[in-house]
Amino acid sequence: MSISHERMNIPETVAIIMDGNGRWAKKQGLPRTAGHKKGADQIRTIALEANRLHIKKLILYAFSTENWKRPEEEISYLCKLPGIFFSRFIKELMEKNIRVTFAGELERFPKDTQKVIRKAVDQTKGNTGLELCIAINYGSRREIILAIQEYTRQVVEQERANDLNEEDFSHYLFVPENVDLLIRTSGEERISNFLLWQIAYAELIFTQTAWPDFDEKALDECIQEYNRRDRRFGAVK
Ligand code: FPP
Repeated sequence: MSISHERMNIPETVAIIMDGNGRWAKKQGLPRTAGHKKGADQIRTIALEANRLHIKKLILYAFSTENWKRPEEEISYLCKLPGIFFSRFIKELMEKNIRVTFAGELERFPKDTQKVIRKAVDQTKGNTGLELCIAINYGSRREIILAIQEYTRQVVEQERANDLNEEDFSHYLFVPENVDLLIRTSGEERISNFLLWQIAYAELIFTQTAWPDFDEKALDECIQEYNRRDRRFGAVK
């Protein structure tokens, strides 16, 4: 039976490191790109379930600043996937009131990849349901450096007071929210330069399930596990 947001403590912001597409494909005797294709379908499945559960923001790690080291044909396929994805699912995202945003430096992608992503953001900007944030050419250290550069520029050029606090700083980042729950699929237990600032007090779940097999039930199980955790934020209860 699927879980309900009325009976559960639902995390507001959930982040997922979608790992294991390549290994999943290899197991089926398919090329790595087939794993990414199935992985993109799972983005739809998990976004719909997150929306049903009233999760406010879902941040998915689709392409890291380190992924440029992959073979050219894999990169070129990953660049095509947003176009394929949005042409298939934008109608459904609109019907479900889901808003698409992105985090990362889009400028390094081919012009048409940038265009389809910006178009999806624009088309869905009035939606008030789940925020589906795609982290693309995203790296957390890079995000922090860009934030520091912008802040210091404002201090120097606009004579902004040098009085930064944690809340202010978060607004210089691509993702200002605190992450409540971070999930990594496919067995590895690492953060891989994802949302280092934002996960300061996140609950971490590492699951064996590969991303292409990570379905509604798998997300529901993570939410149930989150409900069993005792979040104290450094205090005593
Ligand atoms: C990690 O698996 C997965 C990625 C680096 C790519 C994730 C991208 C998608 C799921 C699709 C993106 C689509 C849109 C619409 C933004 P891996 O290749 O590292 O797997 P492995 O560790 O088994 O090799």
